[in-house]
Amino acid sequence: MDGHRPVVLVTGASGGIGADLARVFAREGHDLALVARSADKLEALAGEIEAMGRTRPFTLSLDLAQPQACEALALALDEAGLTPSTLINNAGFGLAGRAAMLERAGQIEMIDLNIRALTELTLRFLPAVIAGRGRIMNVASVAGFLPGPGMAVYYATKAYVVSFSQALSQELEGAGVTVTALCPGVTATDFHARAGLDANLMKHMPGMSSKVVAEAGYKGLMKGRRLVVPGLFNKLVTGLLPLLPNGFLLPVMGRMQDRRMGK
Ligand SMILES: NC(=O)c1ccc[n+]([C@@H]2O[C@H](COP(=O)([O-])OP(=O)(O)OC[C@H]3O[C@@H](n4cnc5c(N)ncnc54)[C@H](OP(=O)(O)O)[C@@H]3O)[C@@H](O)[C@H]2O)c1
Repeated sequence: MDGHRPVVLVTGASGGIGADLARVFAREGHDLALVARSADKLEALAGEIEAMGRTRPFTLSLDLAQPQACEALALALDEAGLTPSTLINNAGFGLAGRAAMLERAGQIEMIDLNIRALTELTLRFLPAVIAGRGRIMNVASVAGFLPGPGMAVYYATKAYVVSFSQALSQELEGAGVTVTALCPGVTATDFHARAGLDANLMKHMPGMSSKVVAEAGYKGLMKGRRLVVPGLFNKLVTGLLPLLPNGFLLPVMGRMQDRRMGK
C-alpha cells in the first residue's frame, strides 16, 4: 500500500444517507471513493463534490451483493493507487413482507449485501484502516435492536451489524481504530420504496432527513462513539423497547409492520 493515497470509502453513495455522508466528508476535507450500482448518480455526486473545490472522488459502479464484488473493489482501488483509511459500510436494503411470502432470492440478496459484503469489506480493509489509524462506520438501524415480524430478514441483518460492530470495536480498543454503528430510524430516502412499504403512509411517519442522519453519523464517528442513534425518539425506541418481553413486543411489532405495508 506504500505510496497509496488514503481515501474514505463510502458504499451505497449514489443516494440517501450514503450520498449525504459523502457530502459531509468532502466538506470536511476528506478524499473519497464512492461505490454503488448507479454509475450516473455516482458521477453526478463526484461532479458536485469537485465543484465544491475538492478532489474529484474515485467512483466505481458495482453490485456489492455479487460474490466477487469486494475483491473487484479492492483491485480497482489498488490500481487507482488508493487505500481506504476509513470505511463507511452504508449500502443496504430491506424488503417488507412475511418471509414465507417474499421471494427467496431477494431475501438472500439482503444477507449478501447487508451482512456478507459489509463483513468482507471490513475484514479486507481492516489492515489498511489500522495502518492509517482510521475509522469504520457500519450503517445499522434501530431495527437492529428489535424483533421484526413483517421484515424478519432485514431486522435480523441489522441486529448482526450492531452485534458485529460493537464486538469489533472492543477487539480494536488500543489499536487506534474506532468502530461505530450508525443506527437511524425512519429516514426520508428511496429505502422505503425499494422495501415495498406504503408510500402514502411513509409520508406521515416521523422521519428524519438523510442530511441530519449523515451529520450525526459523522460527528459520532469522529468522536469514536460505538453507537450513534440520531434523534431523541430513536434513542427512546432503542433504549426502552428492548426492555419489554418479546411475548408483548413481537405481536406489537407485527401489527405496526402490517400498518406500514398499508394493511
Ligand atoms: N431510510 C431509512 O429509513 C433507514 C433507516 C435505518 C437504516 N437505514 C440503512 O441506511 C443505509 C442506507 O440506506 P438509505 O436509507 O440511504 O437508502 P437508499 O436511498 O435506498 O440508499 C441505498 C444505497 O445503497 C446502494 N445499494 C443498494 N443495493 C446495492 C448493491 N447491491 N450494491 C451496491 N450498492 C447498493 C444504493 O445505490 P444503487 O441503487 O445505485 O446501487 C444506494 O446508494 C442502509 O444500510 C439502510 O438499511 C435506512
